[in-house]
Amino acid sequence: MLARSAFRAARSAGPARTAAGKTATRSASSSSSSESASQWKNTIAGSAATVAAIGSIAWYYHLYGRSVHAMTPAEEGLHPTNYPWEHVKFTKTFDHQTLRRGFQVYREVCASCHSLQRIPYRTLVGTMMTVDEAKALAEENEYDTEPNNEGEIEKRPGELSDYIPSPYKNDEAARAANNGALPPDLSLMVKARHGGCDYIFSLLTGYPEEPPAGAVVMSGLNFNPYFPGTGIAMARVLYDGLVDYEDGTPATTSQMAKDVVEFLNWAAEPEMDERKKMGWKVMAIGLTLFGLSVWVKRYKWSTIKTRKLVYNPPMSKADMNPSSPRPGVKMESNNRQS
Ligand code: HEC
Repeated sequence: MLARSAFRAARSAGPARTAAGKTATRSASSSSSSESASQWKNTIAGSAATVAAIGSIAWYYHLYGRSVHAMTPAEEGLHPTNYPWEHVKFTKTFDHQTLRRGFQVYREVCASCHSLQRIPYRTLVGTMMTVDEAKALAEENEYDTEPNNEGEIEKRPGELSDYIPSPYKNDEAARAANNGALPPDLSLMVKARHGGCDYIFSLLTGYPEEPPAGAVVMSGLNFNPYFPGTGIAMARVLYDGLVDYEDGTPATTSQMAKDVVEFLNWAAEPEMDERKKMGWKVMAIGLTLFGLSVWVKRYKWSTIKTRKLVYNPPMSKADMNPSSPRPGVKMESNNRQS
C-alpha cells in the first residue's frame, strides 16, 4: 500500500518537474524586464532572510550564549597547581599523623587570627589526640557557665563538648586588629574556595619575595598571585622552622602548608574516612545484588527464552473427512498435500 502510493506520487511529480524545468529554461533565455525585476526581488528577499536569520542567531548568542564572568581571568588570580593529594584518593584515608601536625600548625600559627568555630574538642579525640590530651587542651580555656541562682554568669574550664574558641570577640574586633580585613573562619574553608586544598596550599606557599615589576600593591596588602585581585591582607605566615614537630618531621614551609591544609580538609569534611568506607561497602553489596539480580532474571526468563512457537496451519477438507482415521485431527502425513 505504502509502496503503491509512493509510486503514484512519483508519477504525478513527473510532469510537474518537467514543467518547472521548462520554466527555468524559458526565464533564463528571456530578456523581459518584469521577469528580471522579480528575480532581483527574489535575490533580495533571499539575502535579507539569510541576514535576518544569521543576525538573530548572533543576537541570541550575544544575549544568552556566552558565559559571563564577574572578573577577568587576570582578576580571578592564578589557577592553583593540581597537587597529588594522597588523602583525596579513592582508597585512601586522612593521614592522622598529618592531621595532628596540621592541628599544631593551626594552633601555633593561624589561631591568632582565624577562628575554627565549628570544631568541638571532642572531635579531636581518636582522630589526632587521646582523650586526656584533648581534655587538657580544652581546660586551657575558660567558658561561660549557665546563669546561677543569682543570674550571674561565671567562668569554668573548658570541656570536651566545648568548641575551639575564636581569637576575637566579634567580626568588628577582628577587622580592627587586621587593618580592616576580616580573617575568615577556617572550618569550611576547603569547601568554600574554588580549588580547595590546592588553592589554600598555593596561597600559603605562593608569596614571592618581591612583587613582580609593574604589579600594583595597595598599602596594607601583600602580593599573592593566587588570591583574586592579587592583593591580600594576610601577609606570608609560614616560614621554614616556624614550629617544632614532636615527631621530628622537618618543618619546612611546604610541609607545614601541606599539613595544615589536610587538617583543614578534615575540619571541613570530618566524615570523609567514614564516607569512603561506606562507599566501598555500598559498591560491594550493590555489585553482589546486581549479579544476583542478573542471575534471577535469567532463571525466571529461561522458560520463556527457550520455548519454541510452532505455527499449525488450518485444517483442510481432507482432514475433516470422517472416514480418515481420526476425524478433525490433522495427521503428520497430510501436512503439505492440499
Ligand atoms: C596575622 C593574622 C593572620 C594569620 C596568622 C593567618 N591569617 Fe589567614 N587571613 C588573615 C586575613 C586578614 C585574611 C583576609 C585576607 C583578605 O581578605 O584580604 C586571611 C585570609 C585567609 C584565607 C582566605 C583567602 C581567601 O581566598 O579569601 C585563608 C585560606 C587563610 N587566611 C588561611 C590561613 C592559614 C591556613 C593560616 C595559618 C597557617 C593563616 N591564614 C594565618 C590573617 C591571618
